[in-house]
Amino acid sequence: MQIVSTIKEVREIVKEWKKQDLSVGYVPTMGYLHEGHASLIKAARKGNEKVVVSIFVNPMQFGPTEDLASYPRDLEKDARLCEAEGVDLIFHPEPEEMYDESFCSFTDINGLSNALCGLSRPIHFRGVCTVLNKFFNIIQPDRAYFGQKDAQQAAIVKQFVKDLNIPVEIIRCPIIREEDGLAKSSRNTYLSQEERQAALCLSKAIFLGQDMVKNGETDAKKVTEAMIGRIKEEPMADIEYVKAVNGLTMQDVSVIKAPTLVAMAVRIGSTRLIDNFVVE
Ligand code: PAJ
Repeated sequence: MQIVSTIKEVREIVKEWKKQDLSVGYVPTMGYLHEGHASLIKAARKGNEKVVVSIFVNPMQFGPTEDLASYPRDLEKDARLCEAEGVDLIFHPEPEEMYDESFCSFTDINGLSNALCGLSRPIHFRGVCTVLNKFFNIIQPDRAYFGQKDAQQAAIVKQFVKDLNIPVEIIRCPIIREEDGLAKSSRNTYLSQEERQAALCLSKAIFLGQDMVKNGETDAKKVTEAMIGRIKEEPMADIEYVKAVNGLTMQDVSVIKAPTLVAMAVRIGSTRLIDNFVVE
């Protein structure tokens, strides 16, 4: 496994692979890798001859009051996980390598980003799409892998790649959870022991909503209100949103039917957590 930090090195390595007609799978990450990331790497390993992982805490997708400085980082541990999962190349650029002083071009997306997480994080998805556009141009992967954990992000990426005719196939992978249900996230590390326990209200609400839908409930309001009720049983939880939307357009729906996405963002103390389920 190689670890490089410059765009030039990535281009040279990928060029050699392409000469040999080898397929390239790509997993974009911000590091502090866990089994959720590992599941994407496994899928990339299975579907491609070469696998690239980028580890980059992208400043552009963090708002001014968000956790850019404190975002957890551990490159050595990440490299061990990647090595064990059979990754061929880690691209770990410094912010200056990605954004030089003259940088002024952005990949913006309307509509899909004006809902759910986009409402409280107005510049977030522009930052995500801009950095991914750059990574897609640098790495030129055949396939890129995204977790359904960030359902809105995955939907937005699928849309912008289609809109801009970027020749990469976007593959979505299921949410990986802790044994007790909490969706794995690099941000779970912020939680105190008490908060970690309180955070279970998210997955409990997800499972409740899923059960209601499984048992035939199609009224979006009934389902989201029951989920909100479950979260409110936890005094440490502060709900940002619990919504049922169309999984492609992110617009609110009143009737739950495929492809409805039921998604939530909840603060536990100062940590913002997200979770969701999709009605197939
Ligand atoms: P990050 O939060 O590191 O997540 C990288 C990828 O891992 C995303 O596609 C995310 O959905 C997936 N992932 C995280 N937790 C998961 C879980 N529990 N189960 C399944 N997949 C999970 O998302 C980002 O980074 C950034 O926005 C990025 C796309 C890298 C752009 O900077």
